Amino acid sequence: MTARLIDGKAFAAQLRGRVATAAAAFTEQAGRKPGLAVVLVGEDPASSVYVRSKGKATLAAGMESFEHRLSADVSEAELIALVDRLNADETVDGILVQLPLPKHIDERAVITRIDPDKDVDGFHPVNAGRLATGLDGLVPCTPLGCLMLLQDIHPHLAGLEAVVIGRSNIVGKPMAALLLQQSCTVTTVHSRTRDVMGHVRQADIVVAAVGIPGFVQPEWIKPGATVIDVGINRTGDGLVGDVDPRAVEVAGAITPVPGGVGPMTIAVLMRNTLVAAGRRAGIAVDPAL
Ligand code: GUN
Repeated sequence: MTARLIDGKAFAAQLRGRVATAAAAFTEQAGRKPGLAVVLVGEDPASSVYVRSKGKATLAAGMESFEHRLSADVSEAELIALVDRLNADETVDGILVQLPLPKHIDERAVITRIDPDKDVDGFHPVNAGRLATGLDGLVPCTPLGCLMLLQDIHPHLAGLEAVVIGRSNIVGKPMAALLLQQSCTVTTVHSRTRDVMGHVRQADIVVAAVGIPGFVQPEWIKPGATVIDVGINRTGDGLVGDVDPRAVEVAGAITPVPGGVGPMTIAVLMRNTLVAAGRRAGIAVDPAL
């Protein structure tokens, strides 16, 4: 038996299509397009590529894209002043400050300055708290994209054993919160966990977000389990995930790298921007988003 490959690229394209339709309806009602501001500090090549892709996807979804490129030596105060202007700008529904920031800038100071209702990355502690307590907020894009892929395969997640590998604020912690909200039995394993394999062996759902190429071994996977590989590791062999590719022979369904989780992140960013616009303008948006 070989696993079903989860086509994140196709799923993301469909999601972007639904967002574009809903964005057109928003524009009709609000008399303006939803707007996303992306801030890039410095010229890190990978970040530049991401920011360009985000700008293109925003325009393709029929939304307004505001790009702010600041030099690497911009002061924290200047960056925060830009965030304040974007917070006050009525045409801006979503604000994303591309991470990582240069060493001399305190990322937390910048992220906590963003209006939580425009925080389309879902990184603000207010949004983390809303997620943890079951309030409507904005949810980090990558874990929400993973949940959408999982729900496509398991319409009823309740009661399933889920293991999240990694405890970052961007993926692991919000992923665990989302799975708990869906009534999974959730275990988060990390660098100090004594028996990672023992936990993963029990899991119906495995989400790997550790950033170590090929970390999850095929023998760890329970036959038939669903495996979501969040890893995007650049190695001599090209892009590889956090899961050993031989896991495809054991899993029931698995996301490939590339073409699995990766394409979902920007599609969910578009979705979050539209949701933020709808809430800010008091306009109902398609709940199927
Ligand atoms: N850098 C890498 N991934 C992300 C992301 O999802 N959001 C932001 N703001 N920066 C990133």
